[in-house]
Amino acid sequence: MFDLVIKNGRIFDGSGNPWFHGDVGITGDTIAQVGVGLEGEKTIDAGGLAVSPGFIDIHSHSDIPLLVDPRAQSKIRQGVTTEVVGQCGNSAAPMNEKVRAYRDTYSRSLVPEDFQFDWDTMDSYMRKLESQGVAVNVAPVVGHGTVRQNVMGFDNREPTQDELEEMKSLVRQALEEGAWGMSTGLIYPPSVYGKTPEIIELCKVVSEYNATYFTHIRGEAETLLEAVEEACTIGREAAVRVQIAHFKASGPANWGKTKESLALVEKFRSLGVDVTFDQYPYIASSTNLTALLPHWSMEGGAEQLLKHLQDPEARAKMAQELRLNYGWDKIMVAKAKNNPQFNGKTIQEIAQEMGKEPLDAVFELLLQEEAQVPSVMFGMNEEDVRRVMKSPHGMVGSDGSAICPEGVWRDFVPHPRYYGTFPRVLGHYARDEKIIPLQEAVRKMTWAPARKVGLKDRGLIHPGFKADLVVFNPETVKDKATFQNPHQYPQGIHYVLVNGEIVVQNGEHTGRLPGKVLRRN
Ligand code: ZN
Ligand code: CU
Repeated sequence: MFDLVIKNGRIFDGSGNPWFHGDVGITGDTIAQVGVGLEGEKTIDAGGLAVSPGFIDIHSHSDIPLLVDPRAQSKIRQGVTTEVVGQCGNSAAPMNEKVRAYRDTYSRSLVPEDFQFDWDTMDSYMRKLESQGVAVNVAPVVGHGTVRQNVMGFDNREPTQDELEEMKSLVRQALEEGAWGMSTGLIYPPSVYGKTPEIIELCKVVSEYNATYFTHIRGEAETLLEAVEEACTIGREAAVRVQIAHFKASGPANWGKTKESLALVEKFRSLGVDVTFDQYPYIASSTNLTALLPHWSMEGGAEQLLKHLQDPEARAKMAQELRLNYGWDKIMVAKAKNNPQFNGKTIQEIAQEMGKEPLDAVFELLLQEEAQVPSVMFGMNEEDVRRVMKSPHGMVGSDGSAICPEGVWRDFVPHPRYYGTFPRVLGHYARDEKIIPLQEAVRKMTWAPARKVGLKDRGLIHPGFKADLVVFNPETVKDKATFQNPHQYPQGIHYVLVNGEIVVQNGEHTGRLPGKVLRRN
């Protein structure tokens, strides 16, 4: 007799094998048996629906949103049961006094007024999450940008030997405390100020712990191939496994380059470098508007940038060195805290309303918003998205955060990936467009990321594995979030279980918070 049995499912077990009929017997937080005719204290009749391992979002930015709202609504309703946070070089911890003060001023656009940045080490961040409770499991990695900011602020220079040692010891400490690897964000200050040898040195520490190197590479446009090459070289030199974030080619001039970038991945794999990647299933990206600016403009951080924005000479230089691969009508503002009338509008529209040239409108907006303008950029093409999805070396990662349509996020117009990533791959790309088989889509969301991260007891439906499970309807599963109307939960996700507890029942959140902070070891 099991505590809970999910009966009559089509079991997609996460391995990539085709489904089979069966029941899943759960005892406590663990899958005890997979078979037929199992009896339980409680039963969920799947009635022929798909039963799969909970989805592992290998690229998440929920570090702080989960502290704001532990229900993880936009993720759990997609079937996500584990989030790998701390991506793109930016993690919640470590956070010394300098970093805390900086965040208190420049990281407030998407947290409530009374939000406190009141942790310091990775361990203290993990304990804070645990004490508040959380609906999904959280596997944090440490961000290189964050580590660098702790040691060197926003200095654009190479570290001294002492500084490098200090960074290494911060990475080591985070890994000792349970982090699953290190991430870089090599287009974002201060991570971008780190050159290849510095990253290799830090990755050698990651390698010692058999952890993973996650990277937002140094360019996704003109320099895409050099950037993939750098990521792979770091993997080879530091003997570390590499996960390239949101694999793509950005800007019309670079469309089609995924052919060559995928070939590079294959080449390095054949040389023995364990390089793989993740992808979100959309033709738009999302980041802060400051990502368009030349990197020198952020030397010294946002404070310096705000000074540059008020200096005509610096403005002219920034204008000249702007890194823009598409038109102003392709950039939509997701949230302007002090100008909510601009949320969801393109730069072109905003410029018209302001009666300014687009570039001046951007500078003006950055000034008014103290450099915090999360935006959505329509820079990719569908053919690349499909080509990348077909690669067996790819996984699914949202690059989004766990949010909900309420509170501080109410007037935010986020990228729809926050709500739709996983159902969109299952419904739109696997079922409707037949880009990959459904069992392959499930594998890319479960066992593949579990292996990559090093999660030993998640990502498969197999006895002894944790009972993170999704019951979904393969006929109806569908993302509903759009660019205009992103706060829409998907359809067709019936049940979501985390550690054996039901968090989504008949498509509704039960309010339970059974998630665990996962520590390496
Ligand atoms: Zn990124
Ligand atoms: Cu990211």
